Amino acid sequence: MGWLHKKIIRPLLFRQDSERAHNSVVNKLGWASRNAFLCGLVEKIYGSPELPSKVFGLNFPNPVGLAAGMDKHATAVPGWAALGFGFCELGGVTWHAQDGNPKPRMFRAIPDEAVINRMGFNNSGAEAVAQKLSGWKKSGRWPAHPVGINLGKSKITPLDKAAEDYASSFRILRDLADFFVVNVSSPNTPNLRQLQDKTALDEILAAIQALNQPKKNGGRTPVLVKVAPDLSLWALDEILELVKPRNLAGIVATNTTIARPQTNDAALQKIYAETGGLSGRPLRARSTEIVRHLYKQTGGQVPIIGVGGIFNAEDAWEKITAGASLVQCYTGLVYEGPALAGKVVTGLAGKMSAAGFSNIRQAVGTAA
Ligand SMILES: Cc1cc2nc3c(=O)[nH]c(=O)nc-3n(C[C@H](O)[C@H](O)[C@H](O)COP(=O)(O)O)c2cc1C
Repeated sequence: MGWLHKKIIRPLLFRQDSERAHNSVVNKLGWASRNAFLCGLVEKIYGSPELPSKVFGLNFPNPVGLAAGMDKHATAVPGWAALGFGFCELGGVTWHAQDGNPKPRMFRAIPDEAVINRMGFNNSGAEAVAQKLSGWKKSGRWPAHPVGINLGKSKITPLDKAAEDYASSFRILRDLADFFVVNVSSPNTPNLRQLQDKTALDEILAAIQALNQPKKNGGRTPVLVKVAPDLSLWALDEILELVKPRNLAGIVATNTTIARPQTNDAALQKIYAETGGLSGRPLRARSTEIVRHLYKQTGGQVPIIGVGGIFNAEDAWEKITAGASLVQCYTGLVYEGPALAGKVVTGLAGKMSAAGFSNIRQAVGTAA
């Protein structure tokens, strides 16, 4: 399968514009997702072994999830489980529907196995996504794994009205997902990252948690915050100060970076001159460093979802042993193809038994 992807499918996809190839693949998975037989077939080919873990009160069949941005419109909700992911994070969703930035806005840096994007939260808006999710629920094809939603700020909403914007999306989507991620770290919405400032973030979280009353059968819906890899460790510590007062379930580390690797390759230099966030291999080490810092600062008491440059089981193990309870992939899927989650989960299971662990939780933070 890996050979088929690397030698045939990937070269064909890479001949197309990056966003076009992305849309065509996600739409095809969306089409398969509507059919139980096709979905079952995808699962037979690509499914993952069980590697269960309970994190912030939710049961994850395995710790490898789909990162935000891949399925912004909830197109293929059952498909991600069929591809072996233990959870998915849909969106970013904003309160107002928006087109995002002008195209082209997604670029591959192939020699470095990286992507630069400045999508700018193109999405159909919280109401349309809520309808889509209700449709999936009614279809009886809702996946057995946790489904999260990534919330962003609408571009037309001024920064001082951000709390209202996030809270409106949360209100309409709350009963349609298992957890939420407050994204204040995308580099592609003007000034968004200023919302990582403690006071501004506190206001957003207060507005969301005011709507997040405990459900009859249990607690509050878990709410996490996603941070940028470009924050200083001091700024990260400030965000951690909000965890207790605002009942945060965890931190997602990290979003894409505005930093660029050094290169003498003229073609790469041209791609790296594009504005936007960089993801993939060059982000791996920095995002792991942030996971490790967060784990140490919180004494392992706050669950971390580690994301950035995970292409194989070694990369996932690095994040987990640095302190991540769960991991996510985006760019790895672009370069490694649909077998990625299954390969990572199988590899993690092998590493666990080699280390003498019976649950993935035992590995978390062992190299922090
Ligand atoms: C095209 C693209 C779109 C993305 N959109 C979002 C988004 O809407 N919200 C978000 O929090 N992160 C978004 N991300 C960031 C990813 O979720 C992830 O944090 C980042 O790409 C690092 O992981 P990776 O190296 O595995 O890709 C996006 C990334 C890419 C490449």
